[in-house]
Amino acid sequence: VSFTGCVADNGTADCGFWLSPTLKTSSDGEEAQISYLANTDGFTAYAESDVSGMKDGDVYLNVDLKATAEIPARVEIVYGQSGESAAVFSEIRIGTEYERYSFRTGNSLSGKSVSKVRIYPSYNALSGYGIVFVKNLTYTDYYETKFYDVKSVSDDDQNGGENEPNVPVQVDYLHEKYAGYFKMGMCAGYNDYGNYGDLEAHYNSFTCENEMKLYVIGQTEGRYDYDKADRMIRYMVDRGKQIRGHTLIWYNGAPSWLTDCRDKTQLLNKIDTYCYNVVKHFKDTFGGSVYCWDVVNEAISDSGGAYRDTFYGVAGIDYIKTAFRAARRADPNVKLFYNDYNMDDRVKRNAVIEMLRELIRDGVPIDGVGMQGHYGTYTQANNVEMAIAAFENLAEETNHPLEIHITELDVKNYENSDSELERIYGELFEVFRRHADSITSVTTWGVSDEHSWLNEVGKGNAHPFLFDENHNKKPAFQAVFDF
Ligand code: XIL
Repeated sequence: VSFTGCVADNGTADCGFWLSPTLKTSSDGEEAQISYLANTDGFTAYAESDVSGMKDGDVYLNVDLKATAEIPARVEIVYGQSGESAAVFSEIRIGTEYERYSFRTGNSLSGKSVSKVRIYPSYNALSGYGIVFVKNLTYTDYYETKFYDVKSVSDDDQNGGENEPNVPVQVDYLHEKYAGYFKMGMCAGYNDYGNYGDLEAHYNSFTCENEMKLYVIGQTEGRYDYDKADRMIRYMVDRGKQIRGHTLIWYNGAPSWLTDCRDKTQLLNKIDTYCYNVVKHFKDTFGGSVYCWDVVNEAISDSGGAYRDTFYGVAGIDYIKTAFRAARRADPNVKLFYNDYNMDDRVKRNAVIEMLRELIRDGVPIDGVGMQGHYGTYTQANNVEMAIAAFENLAEETNHPLEIHITELDVKNYENSDSELERIYGELFEVFRRHADSITSVTTWGVSDEHSWLNEVGKGNAHPFLFDENHNKKPAFQAVFDF
């Protein structure tokens, strides 16, 4: 396979980020070179290789890559001869030593064949001139090849090296299966949290659906109602789960003693007092069992990424800073998150990123970002991956570590298509596993199909989960469990 040329994605070779128009081409085993001159924005130009003639369907594309300096890059696998669509995006880092990367095209490509592979070196983290070296572009049939991912290889090493036989360990539960990746969380409300005795063992994290919110705990100023949350958390902690605190400051359902306050200083005081007291209560009552808090929820609106007016209209971004600082004062160890939805929408995500950048710049204590993950079978896993990569890039660029939590995962599936649900859950968790260095917790917003907030909106049952209403595993469960 050879790299035949390079193209700027705006159709000209002159898009600021410039790649040498002629590449040194290669045949298998030989080295191709992509030179780049980085001086502007984004992943804007690529080198591509024509790989038509490859086998149809689910394959691994393997390629060895290195660069003159470590560089982030995106790899895109394209199928179809005309009206091409990108099937797989991956954000990778190319190091200075050759390393083999494998990209699975996935089931979505069954019956189609890959036509091109594109490599976009990124401007990020560097400027000037460099070369990416490419060799050994090959493909392998997914079903005929056994691959070890990086994690299992390094596990193996810890046990004394490659030749040691793998000792099979019986793994029954999701959170065990994901032990080397991230926590697996469930969410339930006061009316149903006791209903999952048969499924709870899959999870090691728990979120109260509503009971830690302002509209339950803080309905009346100065009188904190912890009763429901305390019962639920006690029950879950006794069953070995850690707790995601959700959520301190949310415009939706906020009580009038907060929303009616028109004085900035007073509002900040109220927010400070509330956040401090609530975080302190759970720290004092459950020690380190509450491992994180969504300090602020949904501050950015869906219209062009503007701030929502509630609180912001009176206090500007200071309301957010105050909430995080108060939470940190109350508990120096709990991880503090900003949580929002539609992070796969670029405009909204960029607004969130600008907000996070400002918080980080001003030294506001923030440890991570929650992507709610209210998806549908129509969701593009590629876009979800791009959102994750964007937060990873922000962390790197600001030199400020950020954990990513998927906080409220559900998949709208009103047609109740087991196969569609299986496909999308498989794709999403493949993305999550690939980013397990930054993703530390994944929670579904419910457990099994008989209870979901989606079912409350009058469109019938959304069938959004891994378990059906009788608590049986659906094919989607296997898509998440079998890897
Ligand atoms: C939802 C709950 O599931 C419902 O029971 C409640 O009536 C409304 O809130 N984003 C969030 C969650 O951050 O707190 C929301 O939970 C769903 C959307």
